[in-house]
Amino acid sequence: MKVVITGGAGFIGANLASRLESEPGIDEVIAFDDLSSGCRENLDGTGATLVEGTILDVDALGDVTTGADAIVHLGARPSVPRSIKDPVASHNANATGTMNVLEAARRSGNAHVIVASSSSVYGANPTLPKHEGLATRPMSPYAASKLATESYTLAWQAAYDLPALAFRFFNVFGPLQAAGHAYAAVIPAFVSAALADEPLQVHGNGTQSRDFTYVDTVCSVITDALNRRVSDPEPVNLAFGSRTNLLEVIALLEELLGRELKIEHTESRPGDVPHSQAANDRLMALFPDVEPVDLRTGLSTTIEWFRATQG
Ligand SMILES: NC(=O)c1ccc[n+]([C@@H]2O[C@H](COP(=O)([O-])OP(=O)(O)OC[C@H]3O[C@@H](n4cnc5c(N)ncnc54)[C@H](O)[C@@H]3O)[C@@H](O)[C@H]2O)c1
Repeated sequence: MKVVITGGAGFIGANLASRLESEPGIDEVIAFDDLSSGCRENLDGTGATLVEGTILDVDALGDVTTGADAIVHLGARPSVPRSIKDPVASHNANATGTMNVLEAARRSGNAHVIVASSSSVYGANPTLPKHEGLATRPMSPYAASKLATESYTLAWQAAYDLPALAFRFFNVFGPLQAAGHAYAAVIPAFVSAALADEPLQVHGNGTQSRDFTYVDTVCSVITDALNRRVSDPEPVNLAFGSRTNLLEVIALLEELLGRELKIEHTESRPGDVPHSQAANDRLMALFPDVEPVDLRTGLSTTIEWFRATQG
């Protein structure tokens, strides 16, 4: 099977490339990435071929997806605050870019398409846990563009019989996740600061909670979806119904590192949702064998990776 991963040089994409390398049914993995937030080094040792290009370039996308059996579409301009600063760029990459990928899949003879949407689509809807039947209420251009990602995908499935699966990722974390930039996700930012003995920046009071998912678990589910060519007419939450607030994450890090950490509280960020927790009935019905890595184990591996790479 030939698999193209858009955004394949990013955090989740490169972890997936590494995972697919040892998968018996997968012969070729191509990472298609413009390297705007991903990097070449993430693919070292994965066996994947990096093709540098943007999903906004229809011809380049067409070339790379010719003969593809599956496309895992992770390429996107991530981050809520980044989208608030430049909403048009988020729309272009996440909405228009997705439509280009779907058209490329159609031209390639209906490759199986798996796309990454986001829990941020639930936005201002306060109901917990978040089940896929809830009304979506995006609170940021990023969330709206991710709703477009999944809506286009499921519409292409309905209109053109494109075999497709739209996952709503929650807060994914693990090795290869970048920490050293203004839009870093919370776990890499915390781990990196803790190891450098710097204060952990907590936006607001730290009681905001998230359903953290270790990246290996996400890759296991995607790999299973590829192998069994799983498709679904509805979006599917990819998380396991846990809910941990930031102060609890810090307490766990303190336990794992064996010392107290410095904390600095800063302003809450616009567009951030207060709480997030997935209902996972649909996920478990489609992927009954998946066994998630727990938060403590995932954090411990993440700390080891940061120790090894941060020096
Ligand atoms: N990490 C999470 O917690 C999380 C949560 C919800 C959804 N997601 C989604 O999962 C996907 C992967 O996220 P990630 O955390 O690995 O982020 P990432 O930034 O590490 O990966 C995104 C990749 O897409 C590439 N990219 C951006 N614009 C592109 C373009 N125009 N053409 C080609 N490549 C482009 C980047 O260079 C990067 O390598 C994204 O679609 C993101 O929206 C992630």
